[in-house]
Amino acid sequence: MAVSDPNFEERNQDEKKNTARGGFSTALGALFATLGSAIGLGNIWKFPSEAGMNGGAAFIIVYLLATLFVGLPVMISEIAMGRRARANVIQTMRKVSPSKKQPWWLIGVGGVLAAFFIMAFYTEVVGWVFAYIFKSITGGLLSTDPAVTSQAFIDLISDPWQALLWQWLVLIFITVIILRGVSKGIEATAKRLIPLLFVLLLIIDIRSLTLPGAVEGLKFLFTPDFSKLTAAAILSAMGLAFFKLSVGMGTMTTYGSYWKDDQDIPGTTARVMLSDLFVSLLAGVAIFPAVFSFGLQVDAGPSLLFITIPTIFASMPFGGMFMVLFFLLAAVAATGAMLSLIEVPVAFLNEQFSLPRAKGAIITSVLLALIGSLAALSSSVLADVTVFGKNFFDLFDFLSSNLLLPLGGLFIAIFVGWFWGKENVKRALTNDGALQNEKLVQVFFVIVKFVTPLLVLLVLLSGFGVFS
Ligand code: TRP
Repeated sequence: MAVSDPNFEERNQDEKKNTARGGFSTALGALFATLGSAIGLGNIWKFPSEAGMNGGAAFIIVYLLATLFVGLPVMISEIAMGRRARANVIQTMRKVSPSKKQPWWLIGVGGVLAAFFIMAFYTEVVGWVFAYIFKSITGGLLSTDPAVTSQAFIDLISDPWQALLWQWLVLIFITVIILRGVSKGIEATAKRLIPLLFVLLLIIDIRSLTLPGAVEGLKFLFTPDFSKLTAAAILSAMGLAFFKLSVGMGTMTTYGSYWKDDQDIPGTTARVMLSDLFVSLLAGVAIFPAVFSFGLQVDAGPSLLFITIPTIFASMPFGGMFMVLFFLLAAVAATGAMLSLIEVPVAFLNEQFSLPRAKGAIITSVLLALIGSLAALSSSVLADVTVFGKNFFDLFDFLSSNLLLPLGGLFIAIFVGWFWGKENVKRALTNDGALQNEKLVQVFFVIVKFVTPLLVLLVLLSGFGVFS
């Protein structure tokens, strides 16, 4: 690659560690792995529950706008910088920075912190998913009475030992995969799981759509009701766009560092964004028609998955089997996402301290088990400990989705639009002139320079009530 920036070359030499860097082995593998990061509980759990609470289609429209003007531009920026620097997020930000004095590496520090916060509550929810797979096989969950399914969920989350046990199981599972490396671990897993995910989703969609009264659920999902759209809902929609596309904290920067030089960044990221959206809508189609068909609450929020879903499955023939498939789907989706989260600190420890991957992975997992326990115990032993009126679980979720990710995204957009330089952006997105997409690059540059930062700033301020 022709590099004309002498500072970059110098720093690149400075920081070149003797650790041989892995990478995704093919373009398709990179697409699957990146998509595997994007698809996750964000699609299966957050998207339906937030859409349900915030007026369905209206929320989806705002979410779409946030994806196009905020999520996608930040994703493109992150991948471009990561591929250029070929390093973990903190070193990437240091390398691409035009001067050593500018503290852009702090974005990377925020990113590594955010990875821990997100994983802390994420692994807990995946722990519930694992528990539900197990319990739906053994048959302890099915009941047509919401009071019973809700009690079963409360019994699970308020038992400190069960909560910890399932979370740690999840952590061990992820650590075993991440130990195998970028190509043999992350990429190979994503290539197997993504096709499985689509098959499971289609089976459940067909089941849901053939229930009596399914149309009502589709109407809810696709007819906007703007009256429910508050400033807080708009902040949530933007937070969700960050969360679902895994942007704002360096996951995509890290993954970009594993992409090949000739991979089309705008083209591949657009595919990731569209497929991720498609999976969210399919998840909505799996859930809402069934919720309406059985006359249950659409605005149940986070418990939608764990209380409403079992009630639904209990009421249909072969429900037990569908319930196993449903939670398997959630586990499959969450696996690629967790791999991408944990990879951020693992890559950092590996490169910054020349730690072998295995050591970095184990250190990260132990730290995650510790901070994750705060989230795991927030419905039992630590239920009364609140910060800003939220227990640890909600605090980690809120801090990361609604604060750290948007802030990270804001600074990434500002950096790429105002400091990285148009020439660098052009070279990254055209693969040094090999791709004929100059118009697209122009449009991208205007969006990332003006539209993205302004939108994020406005939504952040209004979400925190500055204008009211
Ligand atoms: N996108 C994933 C989901 O929808 C979660 C995720 C993975 C994530 N990596 C991330 C969120 C990085 C924010 C940042 O479940």
